[in-house]
Amino acid sequence: MWSLNHSVFILFFIILFSSLFQSSVFAVKKSYIVYFGSHDHGEGVTEADFHQVTETHHEFLQSYVGSYEKARGAMIYSYTRNINGFAAILEEKEAASIAEHPEVVSVLLNRGRNLHTTHSWEFMSMEYNGVVPSESLFRKARYGEDVIIGNLDSGVWPESPSFRDEGIGPIPSRWKGKCPTTDFRCNRKLIGARYFNKGYLAYAGPAATQNHTHNTVRDYEGHGSHTLSTLGGNYVSGANVFGFGNGTAKGGSPKARVATYKVCWPKIDDGGCFDADIMAAFDMAIHDGVDVLSLSLGSVAVDYFNDGLSIAAFHAVKKGITVLCSAGNSGPTPGTVTNIAPWILTVAASTLDREFASGVELYNGQSFRGSSLSGALPENKFYPLITAADAKLANASVENATLCYRGTIDPEKARGRILVCLRGIFARVVKSLVAFEAGAVGMILCNDQADGNQLFADPHFLPSSQITYEDGVAVFAYINSTKNPLGSINPPITKLNTKPAPKMAAFSSRGPNIITPEILKPDITAPGVNIVAAYSGGISPSEMDFDKRRIPFITMSGTSMSCPHVAGVVGLLKTLHPDWSPSAIKSAIMTTARTRANNAKPILDDNNVKATPFAYGSGHIRPNRAMDPGLVYELNINDYLNFLCFIGYNQTQISMFSGTHYHCKDINILDFNYPTITIPQLYGSVTLSRKLKNVGPPGTYKATLRVPAGVSVSVQPNILKFDKIGDEKSFNLTVEVKRSGLATVFGGLTWSDGKHYVRSPIVVGGVKG
Ligand SMILES: *[C@@H]1O[C@H](CO)[C@@H](O)[C@H](O)[C@H]1NC(C)=O
Ligand SMILES: *[C@@H]1O[C@H](CO)[C@@H](O)[C@H](O)[C@H]1NC(C)=O
Ligand SMILES: *[C@@H]1O[C@H](CO)[C@@H](O)[C@H](O)[C@H]1NC(C)=O
Ligand SMILES: *[C@@H]1O[C@H](CO)[C@@H](O)[C@H](O)[C@H]1NC(C)=O
Ligand SMILES: *[C@@H]1O[C@H](CO)[C@@H](O)[C@H](O)[C@H]1NC(C)=O
Ligand SMILES: *[C@@H]1O[C@H](CO)[C@@H](O)[C@H](O)[C@H]1NC(C)=O
Ligand SMILES: *[C@@H]1O[C@H](CO)[C@@H](O)[C@H](O)[C@H]1NC(C)=O
Repeated sequence: MWSLNHSVFILFFIILFSSLFQSSVFAVKKSYIVYFGSHDHGEGVTEADFHQVTETHHEFLQSYVGSYEKARGAMIYSYTRNINGFAAILEEKEAASIAEHPEVVSVLLNRGRNLHTTHSWEFMSMEYNGVVPSESLFRKARYGEDVIIGNLDSGVWPESPSFRDEGIGPIPSRWKGKCPTTDFRCNRKLIGARYFNKGYLAYAGPAATQNHTHNTVRDYEGHGSHTLSTLGGNYVSGANVFGFGNGTAKGGSPKARVATYKVCWPKIDDGGCFDADIMAAFDMAIHDGVDVLSLSLGSVAVDYFNDGLSIAAFHAVKKGITVLCSAGNSGPTPGTVTNIAPWILTVAASTLDREFASGVELYNGQSFRGSSLSGALPENKFYPLITAADAKLANASVENATLCYRGTIDPEKARGRILVCLRGIFARVVKSLVAFEAGAVGMILCNDQADGNQLFADPHFLPSSQITYEDGVAVFAYINSTKNPLGSINPPITKLNTKPAPKMAAFSSRGPNIITPEILKPDITAPGVNIVAAYSGGISPSEMDFDKRRIPFITMSGTSMSCPHVAGVVGLLKTLHPDWSPSAIKSAIMTTARTRANNAKPILDDNNVKATPFAYGSGHIRPNRAMDPGLVYELNINDYLNFLCFIGYNQTQISMFSGTHYHCKDINILDFNYPTITIPQLYGSVTLSRKLKNVGPPGTYKATLRVPAGVSVSVQPNILKFDKIGDEKSFNLTVEVKRSGLATVFGGLTWSDGKHYVRSPIVVGGVKG
């Protein structure tokens, strides 16, 4: 899953289904998605029409597998509503010959993907000390009343107080969604709950089918409840995690209706969220009538027509639905950002100005900033310190003991002491469990080098503090330097208004976009570290079976958490501007973002150097500005089709994808009207164009440039006059690089009428000479 809170990846079962049949007698069967493009159902479409589509799919498959019965047996989904295609269990040979069929856009292997508060709205200036300012988007957008926001995730814990329907009006009559008929009932807040498991079970094998937890929309991971409550949870006062971070929990659109489409199941091999299920969920969610869809899951970025999520998201955007995805948790390595289709709003993660601070003190006077959600030591005094390596059992390796693996720590040595563990490989809370079981009084969890400065507030089993890599090195050096090392851990306190914030999270996946480098990704950053939101009653905070604790709220971290923050804001913008297109909403959010932190200095990366647009895209979301951006860069469906033509799809493929006879326009991708400007490789001069649309009062906008070092940039014209709403004006931007071998440099273009600031980052890369 794409939350880092419990970074434990347990293989619940390893299914040898395909390898069992890898003998020469049987051909290997796998699940595939056969994608035909779009449906062109009219207004009066009925269930009978959908059945007819399924029949067509069966007949199509029949010609490849031999009989109608075999075709029916092989098919796991028929996508009948918006997406035209099916998922089926096929031999590789069959899949390959289907791919040759002229009506097939692409055949995809059914891949697995991983799942990637209270105070965050205040941090984004939507409230102040819990009071909503009159200029806040919350109030102006009536708290997202009547917007329907869906997520594709691990389901929902319906009894969570975040999903109560107090203060919520009747369900909008346009809603076609459904809820379980047994198990639980929906209400006026949680209006839809469906699950899609056939793609998962096709992979997991027959034994997995019988398991109750694989056949319910109930959330047994906590992830889906957390993200759903972040985007649209109702008000819950006195929400806290073991008393920390106490406040009123609420989602971004607290009065919105929410619907969950469960597509994520216990992880097998590479993932637990399968493309066949994701496509089925999209097809249904579009039909049901959601306005916004949020997905906190993904895998590595691949080419668009081979990416079930990108294809499905396109169908949603075509119907006016804004689709948001998390950027991934594979940072800070460059080129790791995923969910990069230009019709998706891709969200990075950064910190809040809140810390759950629990410091470490050494007897030599040194002290370090740490983070945790745990209790206090038995006594407020110094305790002996011991490294896990020094406390190891004779049969354990130093490497494993250092990481505090289970079965490696000798209670004789650890008892009554503070155990020092190294972070990495498995869940952080498991390490505190190991310390607890060994009789330690506390744990200091030291970041490894790769994790740098990123601190998490976890619900540890005993008094604990997580500290940075550098501070960890100092702790180890101190222990090594003295016979009787002593230390202490201060109980955590909730600190607010910490500076600087936001700061990019080390884990947040980074650009450049490896599929289409001309499109900057991620698009935006939002809070994703130590976010307090609803949890599942079906799982303990440590995710371990013997842990009988159940808590209604928990902290989680990841781009999984930042994505629903932006989805909540999109819900508000939809309420306020029902006529805005998904691209207008996206532009409004991006061009009004900020690139400075709360100390007025540029946003920093985790390693304390200035962060770049490859980390945060346009910057940190500023919801109150997004409701009144002045101008927007808009893109329609044809622009996306031209984009696909440009990157190499032919007329035939595009026509099938769009469901209409589309004739590609010869465009230059640099002219694609994205709200950011990226020229990945330049030596010499290039002119690109953009078009702005007025969505505010009439005004005269003037351009200002922040010219990247080593580059010259000019705007033509540099004054644009808009007379009324809907006015569109174009401009050209000429960029010149005079020498070869320029490193990637960053600048910006801002259009302003003195009140609105419409800002786009400019990214220019050189050509090696
Ligand atoms: C059902 O699946 C869950 C999660 O994969 C697992 O923890 C549990 O042991 C399974 N139950 C049975 C009876 O196999
Ligand atoms: C949380 O705050 C509420 C309201 O201020 C208060 O009534 C409650 O006791 C607090 N809970 C904790 C655990 O601090
Ligand atoms: C470390 O622990 C892992 C997991 O239990 C085990 O597979 C591995 O062999 C251990 N390594 C050593 C050197 O003991
Ligand atoms: C080492 O031995 C202990 C028993 O003394 C056992 O509980 C533990 O699992 C063993 N650990 C390893 C890594 O083999
Ligand atoms: C511990 O100290 C010894 C000698 O003072 C030194 O050789 C060794 O590198 C130190 N180890 C660590 C982990 O600092
Ligand atoms: C379009 O591309 C597909 C897939 O590469 C190919 O099979 C087809 O022949 C192409 N059509 C045209 C008109 O080039
Ligand atoms: C932008 O440049 C193109 C090509 O040079 C030109 O045809 C067009 O008129 C220019 N547009 C504006 C708004 O200046």
